[in-house]
Amino acid sequence: PPNQVIFSGIQPTGIPHLGNYLGALQQWVKLQNTAAPSTKLLYSIVDLHAITLPQDAQKLRQWKREGLATLLAIGLDPERSILFHQSSVFAHTELMWILSCTASMGYLSRMTQWKSKLSLTDDTSPLEESAKSKLKLGLFSYPVLQAADILVHRATHVPVGEDQSQHLEFARECVTNFNHAYGPHLIAPKTIMSPAKRVMSLQEPHLKMSKSHVDPRSRILITDTPEIIYKKLMSALTDSTNSISYDPVARPGVSNLLELLSHFDAEGRDAQKLAVVYGDLGLGQFKKVVATTISESLAGIREKYAQVLNQDGGAYLDHVEREGARRARENANATMAIVREAVGL
Ligand code: ADP
Ligand code: NA
Repeated sequence: PPNQVIFSGIQPTGIPHLGNYLGALQQWVKLQNTAAPSTKLLYSIVDLHAITLPQDAQKLRQWKREGLATLLAIGLDPERSILFHQSSVFAHTELMWILSCTASMGYLSRMTQWKSKLSLTDDTSPLEESAKSKLKLGLFSYPVLQAADILVHRATHVPVGEDQSQHLEFARECVTNFNHAYGPHLIAPKTIMSPAKRVMSLQEPHLKMSKSHVDPRSRILITDTPEIIYKKLMSALTDSTNSISYDPVARPGVSNLLELLSHFDAEGRDAQKLAVVYGDLGLGQFKKVVATTISESLAGIREKYAQVLNQDGGAYLDHVEREGARRARENANATMAIVREAVGL
């Protein structure tokens, strides 16, 4: 069997929050540290995906840089894992075009993420003209780019959160379509489902923690200082019962804090267990415990982040960027040689 190749990506749209970290990034590090030596790992800052929604150029450049620094800060090793910006490897967009020539419009239209990004909730009714003109071609077709990201590196495994499983299914569909037309050249990737860790908003605990929520107190960033983490937790929405118990339906706020605490608990206790342990504390005291635990758990990431961002006046990050791009290009170009030959280009 071919050696394993693991690929995943994250958009450079701001410093990752705890949802991104616990729901996705932490898994990347775990895979890196447990993979067989023969396993190839590629993790990409997918800047071309970020521009499916309007971005400020200067801000995007900054976020790409910070994105790379956060990958290093969480423990990805650039010698072991290939870390790179998607747009520095042209083969991604070239393969996207080739795949789009055998991909079906019908399948793409049934995918739901572009609808949610345009805040269209009705999945069945035909789009009105006004919605159609708001829908940019790139946002509509970005699952094809995502498929190309994976297939161009011959990934065998892709770690994703549940929200992405539909896109992985589409990537496999792209493989079927391409291979049917040109021969068995592309590899169908398997999904590695990230352990279900849905982190909820600190301000609206019935919603997922998300960078798209306006109130910055709704999320903790992995580089937040202890002071900021403390403030955000103190202002977290809970309820008027001044005690600790685990009941996600009746007490979503407190229950979310218990879940958060359990993700960082050194003894690996679950939320229910922790509710018993801290049952006698008042809400304020309990929030303090959660703040301290999270701050201490993130201390290493915070320090490493500050260190790599400024290392050698930025020359270290330049070096990581260059080396990652070189290795990713080499890997992708090998696939493109096969694809071009098969297609007749
Ligand atoms: P956001 O929702 O903040 O825009 P992204 O869509 O960029 O985040 O998320 C990148 C990945 O992080 C997702 O594929 C998902 O698996 C994970 N993720 C995002 N938010 C959460 C959350 N609140 N809980 C768990 N995982 C999350
Ligand atoms: Na999202």
